[in-house]
Amino acid sequence: MLDFRRIKGQHRVRMKRLLRALSFFRDDTPRIVVVGVLLLASIGASLLKPWPLALIVDHVIGSKPQPSWLRHLAPGENKVALLTTLAIFTLALHFGQGALSAAQNFLSIKIGLQGLRRVRNAVFCSLQRLSLRFHQKSQTGDLIYRASWDTYSFQTLFQQGLISLLTALLSLVLMLAIMWKLNHSLALVATGLVPLLLFSIKVFGKRMRDRGVAAQQADSQVLSLVEQNISAHQLIQSYTREQMEEETFLKQTEVAQTKRLSQHGWELLYWLGISVVFAVGTAAILWLGSRQVMEGKLTIGELLVFVAYLAQLYDPLNQLSHVGATVSTAGAGTQRVFEILDSCENVKEVPNARPLLSNRANLGNPASGVEAPAPRPVILEGNLEFNSVSFGYEPNKPVLREVTFSVRSGESLAIIGPSGSGKTTLLNLVPRFFDVTSGSVRLEGVDVRELRVKDLRASIALVLQEPVLVPGTVAENIAFARPDASQEQITAAAHSANAHDFVLKLPQGYNTPIGEGAAMLSLGERQRLNLARAFLKDAPILLLDEPTSALDDENENLVMASLTRLMKGRTTLIVAHRLTTIENVHRVLVLQDGRVVRLGTPEEVLAKRLG
Ligand SMILES: Nc1ncnc2c1ncn2[C@@H]1O[C@H](COP(=O)(O)OP(=O)(O)O)[C@@H](O)[C@H]1O
Ligand SMILES: [Mg+2]
Repeated sequence: MLDFRRIKGQHRVRMKRLLRALSFFRDDTPRIVVVGVLLLASIGASLLKPWPLALIVDHVIGSKPQPSWLRHLAPGENKVALLTTLAIFTLALHFGQGALSAAQNFLSIKIGLQGLRRVRNAVFCSLQRLSLRFHQKSQTGDLIYRASWDTYSFQTLFQQGLISLLTALLSLVLMLAIMWKLNHSLALVATGLVPLLLFSIKVFGKRMRDRGVAAQQADSQVLSLVEQNISAHQLIQSYTREQMEEETFLKQTEVAQTKRLSQHGWELLYWLGISVVFAVGTAAILWLGSRQVMEGKLTIGELLVFVAYLAQLYDPLNQLSHVGATVSTAGAGTQRVFEILDSCENVKEVPNARPLLSNRANLGNPASGVEAPAPRPVILEGNLEFNSVSFGYEPNKPVLREVTFSVRSGESLAIIGPSGSGKTTLLNLVPRFFDVTSGSVRLEGVDVRELRVKDLRASIALVLQEPVLVPGTVAENIAFARPDASQEQITAAAHSANAHDFVLKLPQGYNTPIGEGAAMLSLGERQRLNLARAFLKDAPILLLDEPTSALDDENENLVMASLTRLMKGRTTLIVAHRLTTIENVHRVLVLQDGRVVRLGTPEEVLAKRLG
């Protein structure tokens, strides 16, 4: 009893998911209605196909009296005229059915692709919106798979699920209805065939597919043995293992042969089973039908229609038997996509978050779109403060413990400490890539969680140890934060970052395209482009995470020189590992195991270190 309820519950969940997946096609409802109409017309045309022959047999070749509607087609009992008309009708029917079916398929594919596009757009937006925590937890490969391959499930669900189901059901129902109208007992025979056919398709078909999968696996085993053997060639020869390897291989090819043979055997059995069912049906209909013809209850033409319909039963039944598997596979794909769409943001903006108003002229326009009860804006100057901040990526595993310090507007603070002590984590808390577990990060005395996320992040420029470049031109990379920047502004930023000279030497200067890996640029050059980007963003707060540690001496000097320029007048947190860096800052914080162990001027900290 309980089990039954659980199954029903699962069923309901699955149904809901399918409906939700199909809701991506809701905007196309009018087009779907057109598909339905085309479908109906094309099925109607294909059901009419056997009728001209029936009419010819009955009324042209045979001598059945013509019904009045036929006499309209070819007046005066002119049999040749009637024949011509019916031949033309056959032509029109076949052509029309082909055209209708093509139009219906094209439209279905178009709607399917449109749904696919909608899903992909939604997934992309979600992935952009989700926090760093989500992305660090997920595997990139898995996300890419979900965004590219799993999204196809929506298209499959529509085309191979919904449309196929409709086609199969409509053809089946219409066919059986016409049969019933023509002759009850023959229609019953045909109806009786349906479960028999379904049974054969299900039972033999499943065996056939299972054997196919097994044969496939055995074949790929053979291939991988070949591959392993080639790559370990030297090893095998040096250990004189050829004999053994050969035996393994021979065994595997035998397995592959047996499996393939078994698959083909079941394929033949499948078709044998289907043929037997059809043979039984055709024999029964011929026997019963001919007797009805002899008794004058059925015309020969009508009997021909029956036999033709009988042969047409296979396609819709075969389609129906596959819809279940298709829908459940596609359903699993849609679930993986929904998991992305339903992941919630860890970092959420509070309702009525406070905007940041710049006291500088060139910080975008953070206070845009002020709503009715406008929250009090915060004037941005760059006073940053950590107030007993504790944080851990996982509960009970603190990475930062009671970290307290403050940096006044325009001041710089170097953060040093052993690797793994939490320096990067500390920086990540400022733009709210993560939120503190306890305590608070404050900007101008206001908890960053009360600020508009967009404004907060607009006021921060971030430079990481590994320079990040996006596919695009050099200029686009520099202007990443401000796509509307003028060429003069871009050049000025590059100048300040010591990047202008090498950019001019590139094949197309600022318009040189650089790829994801930016293979043509050295690490130092890439880092200088990142600095140029930060210069152009011109944000009052600067977060630098070991910006020079990956560089050689020459590049480090170039980058350091421009960093010093960039830091001027900006509140700066710089994670540093070289003493030269920390001599130029106002204060130094030493982090160990997530705790602040020292905080003071460079002289004080260095003195203690030495002492
Ligand atoms: N996304 C994450 N999930 C779980 N643990 C993390 C994550 N990032 C860093 N850590 C852990 O937090 C600690 C501090 O890391 P981090 O801030 O990168 O140190 P640092 O920058 O000082 O080398 C390390 O023990 C690290 O393993
Ligand atoms: Mg780090």
